[in-house]
Amino acid sequence: MGDEKMVSKIWELWKKYRGDINVPTDAEQIMQSIDRDKIPRHIAIIMDGNGRWAQKRGMPRTFGHKAGVESLREIVKACNELKIGVLTVYAFSTENWKRPKDEVNALMNLLVEYIYKEIDELDQNKVQIRSIGRVHKLPDKCQKAVSFARERTADNDGLVFNLALNYGGRSELVDTTRAIARKVADNQLPIESIDEQLITAHLYTAGLPDPDLLIRPSGDYRISNFLIWQLAYTEFWHTDVMWPDFRRLDLLRAIYGYQNRERRFGGLKGKNK
Ligand code: IPE
Ligand code: IPE
Ligand code: MG
Repeated sequence: MGDEKMVSKIWELWKKYRGDINVPTDAEQIMQSIDRDKIPRHIAIIMDGNGRWAQKRGMPRTFGHKAGVESLREIVKACNELKIGVLTVYAFSTENWKRPKDEVNALMNLLVEYIYKEIDELDQNKVQIRSIGRVHKLPDKCQKAVSFARERTADNDGLVFNLALNYGGRSELVDTTRAIARKVADNQLPIESIDEQLITAHLYTAGLPDPDLLIRPSGDYRISNFLIWQLAYTEFWHTDVMWPDFRRLDLLRAIYGYQNRERRFGGLKGKNK
């Protein structure tokens, strides 16, 4: 094989590995190719890359977080329009407290600002806001904003918009284990009844389907302690696009890519639905 051919073969393999081979780049074209009967029920997004996006522009990291809110606004709208059941976004992890105080404060303020600014439109569009994570450890103003949004939208029947706030997959498993252990200790639950279903029913995400699709923008290939139980069989979509640049077209590309995967769940090709 000649050098040029080899390079092009390696490139094709790399694109295939990344998942974006043959994905149309035009929104109209993708919309026509998307199968409306195979829309993911639950999409999870690790909203990453804000800091690098800002720094590349010679701006402070918080500028990137602000820009990221615009992406969130557009993606929530698009998910609702596409009739996706659940959108879970990773907004603040249990590890993000390690960041400088100013950055943490800016993120908390943005959350509050986002909720009060968007609530009317979200409510009108029938979006139901929920949260997962140790929200009770967030500053009071954040807790207040989150409960306000949750209560105001509780009866809506559109997209379930789930904000992962002070969320960690490991701390979720700790909280889940504690909740189950408490019931066992109180004789409400025999040990033998602990199975996968029971654990699932005690997670923060109880009642929600597992994500079908996980999107991580900005080039990193890791889970970063997100939904570690729930992602067991989720399809992973990766892109180099930074979160503040992530738009409806990127979402459509991810959905198209997802629809062209073969999910086997440990079974054999063509035998699983
Ligand atoms: C994601 O962007 C936002 C949060 C973690 C809150 P980052 O702030 O992690 O941006 P990078 O990854 O440093 O570019
Ligand atoms: C994951 O991104 C958390 C959020 C997007 C909220 P991080 O930027 O915190 O993850 P690492 O540190 O790169 O793994
Ligand atoms: Mg990051």
